Amino acid sequence: MSETIKVETTKDASGKNILEIKNMHTWFHMDSGIVKSVDGVDIELKEGSTLGIVGESGSGKSVTALSVMGLLMGTTGKIEEGQILLDGKDIVHISNEERRKLRGSKISMIFQEPMTSLNPVMKIGDQIMEAILMHQKVSKKEAEEKAIEMLRMTGLPRVEKMMKEYPFQLSGGQRQRVMIAMALVCNPEILIADEPTTALDVTIQAQILDLMNKLKKEIGTSILFITHDLGVVAEVCDQVVVMYCGRVVEKGSVYDIFDNPSHPYTEGLLNSIPKLGEHVDELESIPGNVPNPKYMPKGCKFAPRCKYAFDRCREEEPGFTDLGNGHQSRCWRCVKEGGKD
Ligand SMILES: Nc1ncnc2c1ncn2[C@@H]1O[C@H](COP(=O)(O)OP(=O)(O)O)[C@@H](O)[C@H]1O
Ligand SMILES: [Mg+2]
Repeated sequence: MSETIKVETTKDASGKNILEIKNMHTWFHMDSGIVKSVDGVDIELKEGSTLGIVGESGSGKSVTALSVMGLLMGTTGKIEEGQILLDGKDIVHISNEERRKLRGSKISMIFQEPMTSLNPVMKIGDQIMEAILMHQKVSKKEAEEKAIEMLRMTGLPRVEKMMKEYPFQLSGGQRQRVMIAMALVCNPEILIADEPTTALDVTIQAQILDLMNKLKKEIGTSILFITHDLGVVAEVCDQVVVMYCGRVVEKGSVYDIFDNPSHPYTEGLLNSIPKLGEHVDELESIPGNVPNPKYMPKGCKFAPRCKYAFDRCREEEPGFTDLGNGHQSRCWRCVKEGGKD
């Protein structure tokens, strides 16, 4: 699509699903009404692969991640319907004790701002060792060795000294590496990374993406990678899910999405990635805004912003059209143009 996009994939579309989100609805019950943040989402993560979830702010990406992690407590949010299958087992209704065991050992998450999940008054080494000791039967000495080894793997310098330092003594990029080390130290099967590079400058961002690619190969963790930036998706993802207004509007391999996008929303996101030698002010951003969840348009939720919209789009919400090889798009244009419906 553009010269700046480097597509690097490690797995094809075959392989078993380690995580399956099926028809998930997560709603928030506000005094002012119900916010349907995630409204019927299906997502499959294949073992050993990286799946990107992409969409503008407010599409429901973080709520999807928090639903999987069971981190909606303290909010008015609830999974109203649907299943989340981890290795085939539904984790929507498990006990708190079972969930505590799952977190860290089977499934870990890193956030945009590591300071929110690092303890500011605890030394780096103690935090990582605590994560190890919570899930593994090892001695303190072994936990310390493992913590040092993991920090080294993330490419951090002077690791022994850093073990004795506090989060505020580290740079933003270093803190994100510590978070990645902490998330991966118990070899989780799945890592959920929610905008892990958004707060970092471009050079550090590239280094963190390289690190995630390296760790995926070395540790074999399957990754759910959340970002608003399709340019970042090209760097790390094998499969891509495009979300808009709490729905999946297109899904497919990274090649399908970049070389053969079908949904006008995906097309809009692709046109807003800077190309080599292009001035930023020439970028075509998608006109209009994500609708207020309380006033969702009838029909296709993207129709009010879509330059191709016709009458049916404004009346009736489209289902998925199968475009082959797992590439699916939720657009009436596909039906019109004769996709396999
Ligand atoms: N704790 C919450 N309470 C109420 N509404 C929320 C809460 N968290 C998210 N939402 C709403 O859910 C929608 C999706 O949010 P989110 O998943 O954070 O979007 P994204 O991560 O794609 O930017 C937004 O409309 C947001 O306002
Ligand atoms: Mg978010």
